[in-house]
Amino acid sequence: MCGIFAYLNYCVPRTRKEIFETLVKGLQRLEYRGYDSAGIAVDGDKNTTTDGINNNNIVLIKKNGKVKALDEELYKKDCMDLEMELDTHFGMAHTRWATHGEPSALNSHPHRSDKNNGNTHSPFIPTHNIHKLVTFILIPTLFQNSKGYEFESETDTEVIPKLIKYVYDNREREDLSFSTLVERVIQQRGSPLLIGVRSKYELSAEHIPIQYNTGELCSPLSDIITLQYGKAVEYYFASDASAIIEHTNKVIYLEDDDIAAVVGGKLSLHRLNRLAGEVPVRAIQTLQMELQEIMKGNFEAFMQKEIFEQPESVFNTMRGRICFDTNKVILGGLKDHLKEIKRCRRLIMIGCGTSFHAAVATRQALEELTELPVMVELASDFLDRNTPVFRDDVCFYISQSGETADTLMALRYCKDRGALTVGVTNTVGSSISRDTDCGVHINAGPEIGVASTKAYTSQFVALIMFGLMMSEDRISLQTRRLEIINGLRILPELIKKVLTLDKNIKSIADELYEQRSLLVMGRGFNYATCLEGALKIKEIPYMHSEGILAGELKHGPLALIDKHMPVIMIIMRDACYTKCQNALQQVTARSGRPIILCCQDDPEVSKNAYKTIELPQTVDCLQGILSVIPLQLLSFHLAVLRGYDVDCPRSLAKSVTVE
Ligand code: F6R
Repeated sequence: MCGIFAYLNYCVPRTRKEIFETLVKGLQRLEYRGYDSAGIAVDGDKNTTTDGINNNNIVLIKKNGKVKALDEELYKKDCMDLEMELDTHFGMAHTRWATHGEPSALNSHPHRSDKNNGNTHSPFIPTHNIHKLVTFILIPTLFQNSKGYEFESETDTEVIPKLIKYVYDNREREDLSFSTLVERVIQQRGSPLLIGVRSKYELSAEHIPIQYNTGELCSPLSDIITLQYGKAVEYYFASDASAIIEHTNKVIYLEDDDIAAVVGGKLSLHRLNRLAGEVPVRAIQTLQMELQEIMKGNFEAFMQKEIFEQPESVFNTMRGRICFDTNKVILGGLKDHLKEIKRCRRLIMIGCGTSFHAAVATRQALEELTELPVMVELASDFLDRNTPVFRDDVCFYISQSGETADTLMALRYCKDRGALTVGVTNTVGSSISRDTDCGVHINAGPEIGVASTKAYTSQFVALIMFGLMMSEDRISLQTRRLEIINGLRILPELIKKVLTLDKNIKSIADELYEQRSLLVMGRGFNYATCLEGALKIKEIPYMHSEGILAGELKHGPLALIDKHMPVIMIIMRDACYTKCQNALQQVTARSGRPIILCCQDDPEVSKNAYKTIELPQTVDCLQGILSVIPLQLLSFHLAVLRGYDVDCPRSLAKSVTVE
């Protein structure tokens, strides 16, 4: 939800053009976090002295729309000499997902403390990874009324520069450093990632949770550059690692209450409200990410690439964790807590959107393998209900990003009540992975497409593996365990087979793309596929779609069925097969023309189908991994045919860090 990227070259000569390119490239990597508008702040050329340090003349360039629009705008500024070489320079950039105030150039970041005819002599220019800032929302009115500050935008973020200026103007002759100023402002109210700049490259970044935090300060201290240029150094600050991986794999993750400042080319870290002399030690970590993981390659969109990556991503989820010779499953992050988990009263699986669907998809298998009651909860609803939670509950937080606000709030809620908390995330170092007692990393690799695809199948596999780990000593479950483990062993191969159906699915999309609605129906192990398929069809092609539990058909949805209503039915050879066939009869009796996802060679089902998509059969509780893939592909093709931007669906963002 919003992306920040900042770049500082200290005694490393870079042309203005190179600096723009670095900032824009970094921002583009973060665009999946929000793409309503974008902005950049750099120091201008006027008054620029020979050493590249200027006199507070900071240029703000902001544009409604995607980063590409901002990129084009940058080169229209004829006041900037693109070939000018700057030895020491700072620039920051922001891509916005609007929360307070409509998407517009004015509301986009960075904001400023004072305005001055387009360019600004404002000494305080922050950009901010936004979430609910209750105090800040109230302040503009107070400021406007009593302090005479004029606000330009409708955003709560704009309070930050005004407040910094206010604190600065009222400093009573103290010599305040910029980071102390920032600290004082944060103490009024914190926010996850705030990067601010004042003149002469004093830079401050802070990472303070109110209820949760997001974003990291990434600062490479690359030996190569240090050696090459003597005192030279480059710093990159970013909301996540994908923006910096092409520059360095060395990063520092800030923790809650850390404040980082760069002054005179030196990075220093301290803690908010620190005790005298307390200096935090933060290790420089090495990212395991590869650049090609965050590139589209030959695919049209990240979503398409990630769908096709599923044989590998699912394999990576299992790698080193399942021993197919001994049938042992070991999830390293959980093994020390296994006894405690086995003693619990119930398991509560909490998530949002696709991650919630992964919980629904595996609930039955988990109930069977753990012999415990399993609740599945949408995080927002779980909180709205003030759901009773006890010390002997074990609560799972399923989240691709590990930053989703509702899920994080639910985590804090359960922690306060003494439950054991388990994270299931795809992002090392994310808030959920840090704040939980233990967890599983799903290892799906970076997921950039806003629509979650490979994370879903990896979450699915990770949760099944948890069930297998829990049931290792249950004699009565050994045959079942073996069946599932054998199913997992060949899963990547079966996924590859499903992916070969792409052409077939594209031709179905050709028929459906002008429709207004699409129902997806199934039950049992495949109900979650209906929910997840319908979500994909809503969010990328913007087509109305509903996932319907086939058992509920006659309790209402049947009224929708006629020859005009497109219906996809999932009918697999499992315990619900006969019941699904009943639903099929009811649909065809009302002239419905179902497209059926079924197992290979099923003449019984095929004869009643308008069209079939035949899938390889696997163990019932894993079938949902195969049945969801055609719907992911369908969503992709429908969106392309309807002319939409697959990776940037309107009004959505990849990590939802607001409630
Ligand atoms: C749908 C989608 C969203 C996310 C949801 C939770 O394609 O991506 O529904 O699944 O916002 O996000 P995470 O998993 O990051 O907590």
